[in-house]
Amino acid sequence: MINYDEMVEKYKKLGIKTPTKNMIKTKEEIDGIREAGRINTLVLDEVAKHIKAGMTTDDINTIVHNKTIELGGIPAPLNYEGFPKSVCTSINDQVCHGIPDKKTVLRDGDIINVDCTTIYNGYYGDASRMFLIGECDEVSKDLVKVAKDALDLAFSTLKPYSRLRNIGYVIENYVKEHGYSVVHEIGGHGVGKEFHEDPFVYHYGKKDTGMVLFPGMVITIEPMVNEGSRYVYMDADNNWTIYTEDGGYSAQWEYTIYIGEDGCEILSH
Ligand code: MF3
Ligand code: CO
Ligand code: CO
Repeated sequence: MINYDEMVEKYKKLGIKTPTKNMIKTKEEIDGIREAGRINTLVLDEVAKHIKAGMTTDDINTIVHNKTIELGGIPAPLNYEGFPKSVCTSINDQVCHGIPDKKTVLRDGDIINVDCTTIYNGYYGDASRMFLIGECDEVSKDLVKVAKDALDLAFSTLKPYSRLRNIGYVIENYVKEHGYSVVHEIGGHGVGKEFHEDPFVYHYGKKDTGMVLFPGMVITIEPMVNEGSRYVYMDADNNWTIYTEDGGYSAQWEYTIYIGEDGCEILSH
């Protein structure tokens, strides 16, 4: 473990913001989050095995709910701040926080994000993937790939003692190069004994700014990449689901990541 106070002192002298002490996890906490993340990955694997055209988003919810319980976990979304289901399913122009229902049927050409979060032994693991349903058009396939590659690029440049805003800097830069845009209003987050902890993880920003990331932190990175405009709005009926303003498609992938002294580790994907 790092000497937290010494590190804070060092970066304070450089005028660089540091994480608060509660952002630094103990070995025991890391192991707990790692286990929750492992279970969460298994739940997403189960979705991957069964997802197909003709299925409803409620069917996905059933798969996620049952698999999570079978593995001894609790689906974190269920009743989280009033969220009514066990998973988020966001199709096409839905950016995130789509609510599964019995009337939304997956059709050939749809792209869908399935965002799973598992509570296991009091710890949270959070990850999401995109799925291409049947034959999708070239732009949809490219959008999904660029979103994945942007996340992988951010992960590969993430290091202990790197700066928080570099994550967003590399993501938005990469996405713009490919002609797409990044949603600003929703970000990644710390994760551990709670679903959403500090810090807010921006998916855009200026290079070499923001707090320094200390070993022992666990964060998610989960960029939402839009085909057209980056602007979004919230469903006024359910107060959850986020849509692209222009109706263009949106893609998102999410990892839970441990920032270790010797490098970073994906705890759920
Ligand atoms: N899993 C989402 C995230 O990555 C949060 C979903 S909140 C819910 O942060 F209530 F909609 F499930
Ligand atoms: Co998250
Ligand atoms: Co999530």
